[in-house]
Amino acid sequence: MILIEEVKRAQQELRKVLGVCDMAVAFTGAGLSTECGIPDFRSMDSAWRRHPPIPFKEFVADSEARALAWRRKFVMDDLTAGAQPGRGHRALAHLLEQGIIGAIVTQNIDGMHQAAGAQDERIIELHGNGGYASCLSCGARHELHEVRPRFEASGLAPECGCGGAVKSATISFGQSMPQEALRRARKVSLDCDLFLAIGSSLVVYPAATLPVLAKENGAALVIVNGEPTPLDASADMVLRGDIGAILEPFEGALKNK
Ligand code: APR
Repeated sequence: MILIEEVKRAQQELRKVLGVCDMAVAFTGAGLSTECGIPDFRSMDSAWRRHPPIPFKEFVADSEARALAWRRKFVMDDLTAGAQPGRGHRALAHLLEQGIIGAIVTQNIDGMHQAAGAQDERIIELHGNGGYASCLSCGARHELHEVRPRFEASGLAPECGCGGAVKSATISFGQSMPQEALRRARKVSLDCDLFLAIGSSLVVYPAATLPVLAKENGAALVIVNGEPTPLDASADMVLRGDIGAILEPFEGALKNK
């Protein structure tokens, strides 16, 4: 594994591997969005440490837990309101548009990849999206601008017309993963010859099986992150540094591709 900690060198090496790959996949985590003011989950100063997500089992079992989950969600939504895509989102959207990256597999629920202009159909959201809600029984979609006033007026967790519990359309711990998203993510991980894991601590499964799947299938694995991850040793290259700084030059066209 080659470890590079100098930004300029990291940019050069990234440019090199992107220049020779047939199809890359970008696998992204919360580290991509911290520069947008959206906290990650495991950095020491993360706001999520003060408002930890409610596990799915508790959410389903207890109406008070559902109300607490909705209170926490709206606290975080207010904290991140107005967030704009960062340099990493813009760079990946550009590389996607150039066809250098074939898909973005994201663990993020913040919709920043879409906001940066990445085509929706080439973004695979493993952990759902926090921009709307859905009914756990019938699957009906519920808009947050309708859910929030009712919740704040009554303090009661929202319910669907069918009687089912309404939950933010994100995947909580203990909740089953979206099977179609996982199937698509596995497919692109097997099809790519370069797998870029960017801004993830790579400790949450099954998402963190994807870099391993790609690597075992012969792809080059490059990890871009500010801190070490458990998969660093099996990576071909680790670019250690600020994600925005490393990816910034890729917002523009890639020369001689
Ligand atoms: N530059 C480089 N690295 C950064 C930056 C930055 N600007 N900001 C944060 N990081 C790094 C952190 O050091 C950390 O290693 O990004 C990583 C983010 O890791 P996590 O907070 O664990 O986020 P993620 O890996 O996306 O979490 C996966 O866990 O809580 C669940 O469902 C949630 O999708 C989430 C999943």
